[in-house]
Amino acid sequence: MPKGTYYFTKGFMWGTATAAPQVEGLNDLNTWSAWEKETGRIINNHQSGLACDWWSGRWREDFDRAQASGQNAHRLSIEWSRIQPAPDRWDENALDRYREMLIGLQNRKMTPMVTLHHFSEPLWVAEMGGWENEAIIDLFATFVKKSVTALMPYCHLWVTINEPNVFAFNAYIDGVFPPGKKDIKAALSVLQHMVLAHARAYHVIHELQPEAKVGTAINYRGFKPASWLPADHWMAKLHHHLFNDLFVQALHTGEFKVLTKKQALPQAAGTQDFLGLNYYTCDHVRFNPLTPGQFFAHRFFPGDALLSESEFISHDPQGLIDCVKWGHQFGVPMMITENGVDDSEDLLRPRYILEHLHALWKAINDNYPVEGYFHWTLVDNFEWERGWTQRFGLWELDPETQVRVRRPSADMYAEICRLNGISSAITGKYAPEALATLFP
Ligand code: BGC
Repeated sequence: MPKGTYYFTKGFMWGTATAAPQVEGLNDLNTWSAWEKETGRIINNHQSGLACDWWSGRWREDFDRAQASGQNAHRLSIEWSRIQPAPDRWDENALDRYREMLIGLQNRKMTPMVTLHHFSEPLWVAEMGGWENEAIIDLFATFVKKSVTALMPYCHLWVTINEPNVFAFNAYIDGVFPPGKKDIKAALSVLQHMVLAHARAYHVIHELQPEAKVGTAINYRGFKPASWLPADHWMAKLHHHLFNDLFVQALHTGEFKVLTKKQALPQAAGTQDFLGLNYYTCDHVRFNPLTPGQFFAHRFFPGDALLSESEFISHDPQGLIDCVKWGHQFGVPMMITENGVDDSEDLLRPRYILEHLHALWKAINDNYPVEGYFHWTLVDNFEWERGWTQRFGLWELDPETQVRVRRPSADMYAEICRLNGISSAITGKYAPEALATLFP
């Protein structure tokens, strides 16, 4: 078997990504805290509780773990409901804590990337209609101004909104995120408000910090036609258009285009300095006239797919290459802002990471400009409506005792970060089953 190393570019960012509602714990001010309390909303009625206990300061030990394993960057989110607990109240202590976290990253020589909205809003915003009410655009801009003013000495990489496409779909079509609606019209209007909120935030941040790099993190999902039938091909295209394209195209062209219906949003044009890509998996798509609420399609993983523990993800590294090629049309540098797999036993994760990084290396070697990779995630966390049933961490967490145990993938990722590459030695040690693909 050949030996070798696939090196990444000099200065490549290696990190993990986290989100405030999933790691901080003890928040009763946001939409998710209320949602969790409603029976039946979260699998097994799990509660986030302490989560990873970051709000009490355990971020310190987790950042130590990240630093000690060679990571040079970290993506985290700040929580609007803590910073602005009421429309007329700012909590300076909350901003202080975030300031401390960012300084904590700097002291550990890790570049911070801050997400300003990751799936949660303050309850008072939700009571006003949340993202359905266009008043949120001004409110969000005010929150962004306050937060960026406080935190910009320690950060220049900003993600305005995490996965607007997943948020609109899960909260307004599937109904599994708050406010739990099933209303396609509302979903599209929410997405449009998110385009405008992003554009406002983009300009607010640049006025405050001209050298800032501002982007979003879109969830790219591959959609493959289930057969040769033209109807399956159209449906795959439709899903790609609505899920992947719609939001990012609007930021690129200033046009919010749903099928043939166009709405000019010129203030959104050219408002990304980089494109964040969250890539996990691909779907097969079959036309189904009986599911208008799911855009006339049945989405599924094929019978021979290699699935994750909870069958949430199908292992498809080629999809990451497609994702990067797709992202390149927007003409800005890209970052992989999330990629990972639910796997409490760490059986698939080493192979998943290596084969995705190999795919990413191939894309970069073909000159697609990707500047970093943030693995989802550092320590097991609260996985939204799936509660604690999915374990995405490099470190295993017992949420009761807060004890962390490193998985083999944590050691493997550390070797990758230190080497700035993936080698046959690392592959042979952690995922020999991937040798044939990576080093044929
Ligand atoms: C989200 C994360 C989430 C991950 C795995 C992404 O859609 O941005 O918050 O935990 O997927 O479920």
